[in-house]
Amino acid sequence: KILILDFGSQYTQLIARRVREIGVYSEVRAFDITEAEIREYAPNGIILAGGPESVTQLDSPRAPQCVFEMDLPVLGICYGMQTMAEQLGGAVEGSHVHEFGYAQIRIDEETALFRNISDHIDHETGRNLLDVWMSHGDKVARIPSEFTVTASTPSCPIAAMAWEEKRFYGVQFHPEVTHTLQGLRILEHFVLEICGAERLWTPAQIIEDQIARVREQVGDRHVLLGLSGGVDSSVVAALLHKAIGDQLACVFVDNGLLRKAEGEQVMETFARHMGVKVIRVNAEPLFLSKLEGEADPEAKRKIIGNTFIEVFDEEASKIEGVDFLAQGTIYPDVIESAAAKTGKAHVIKSHHNVGGLPETMKLTLVEPLRELFKDEVRKLGVELGLPYDMVYRHPFPGPGLGVRILGEVKKEYADILREADAIFIEELHKADWYHKTSQAFAVFLPVRSVGVVGDARRYEWVIALRAVETIDFMTARWAHLPYELLETVSNRIINEITGVSRVTYDVSSKPPATIEWE
Ligand code: XMP
Repeated sequence: KILILDFGSQYTQLIARRVREIGVYSEVRAFDITEAEIREYAPNGIILAGGPESVTQLDSPRAPQCVFEMDLPVLGICYGMQTMAEQLGGAVEGSHVHEFGYAQIRIDEETALFRNISDHIDHETGRNLLDVWMSHGDKVARIPSEFTVTASTPSCPIAAMAWEEKRFYGVQFHPEVTHTLQGLRILEHFVLEICGAERLWTPAQIIEDQIARVREQVGDRHVLLGLSGGVDSSVVAALLHKAIGDQLACVFVDNGLLRKAEGEQVMETFARHMGVKVIRVNAEPLFLSKLEGEADPEAKRKIIGNTFIEVFDEEASKIEGVDFLAQGTIYPDVIESAAAKTGKAHVIKSHHNVGGLPETMKLTLVEPLRELFKDEVRKLGVELGLPYDMVYRHPFPGPGLGVRILGEVKKEYADILREADAIFIEELHKADWYHKTSQAFAVFLPVRSVGVVGDARRYEWVIALRAVETIDFMTARWAHLPYELLETVSNRIINEITGVSRVTYDVSSKPPATIEWE
């Protein structure tokens, strides 16, 4: 396994995901980890990740010096390379120019890290060239004496460095992003060949491990799970069912703000198909009555969250002998980040569907996905036999249609929106665009607009379509859907749904707009 030290870069989690894609377990820890903690974790190698600060500042973070004294391979990426250079006797120089984007590095020295990889050949020197992604201000100005420069670009003469005997490597570019075409191979060289880690981290293996762990934790006692139909809770349900069968009971709260046929799909998949014990609560009337008259987005979110807890608690208290509560917490929710410590990295907006554990229930948590990234959770889902469409579905916010009906929520609006959304999604699938977008949905605008159908004048509601492409949901670009597709969707929505006279397409990117309209 690999240890990744975080200095606050947004890319740190991506490094961990890439290493796991290679099939090797990796964890992200804050840069100020102690030697004892490193020894306890017992990594095959260490990656020093990037960060927003400058090594030229005295109070900026450093790797613990022991990292370089433990006889372990070390790969420094961007800030990680710079701090490695500085800590081992080299020098880093600040710069006002930020180099951001594509660069072509020339491999000057054969190294285990770059062995047999090339995107182009430099005709003058016959050396290999790699297309890489750079994002840095500072750069290494002088390497420590035992190192050699292994790659360069015209604007960054020390683009990579190595001390081969010690198995210390530094790269100024980002091998973890897909723009660096050979990035995964570079990481493979480090993780598999240089560190000698084994590929043991596969979906089947993870499932087997987790089943054993859950059985050990739970014994013959009973577990309760709030099943939402989303990827995480679905995978938890499938996993726990496999581990402990009938000792698992799920509560599925239908809040009336779900997508079309969502409730039926959940019951079909879990209750009928897999034989999971699922209690479905029809709480639509309760949610709608609590939301009546409320137009403020944050107030609506609170009402929906609190009502969920209320309903869930009530159902849970009817089930006897439950000792555990299962949750679909995933690794990005728990990652120990340097962001909080340095206070300089972006603070990632977090959304919580469930406001907290009901105090009186005194349940112990079971969180079998705590160590997994979303893409791993999905692979697990497929391995566990969940339908592909369920596992690879776009994310859906906890408050559901509640934040896609602008202003006050009414049943009439929710019914119209469900139909419009279903048409949009169906057409996206047909045109093979669904998986090219990261999230797509319809929004109900409580605004009346004039239209004509046949000879009749209509004065009805407006539906907005939203589709975005994003990697991390922090920034997003509106999807450039084909006009023909938009035309089909618009025609179908206006013709098939009474109550809608106009369809618009949202062409705002995030930032400044958010993905949801509320
Ligand atoms: P925004 O609208 O903030 O959305 O750009 C980013 C991502 O978060 C989802 N989202 C939510 N998820 N509860 C959730 O569980 C919420 O209150 C919530 N608000 C936004 C949104 O769907 C998108 O994927």
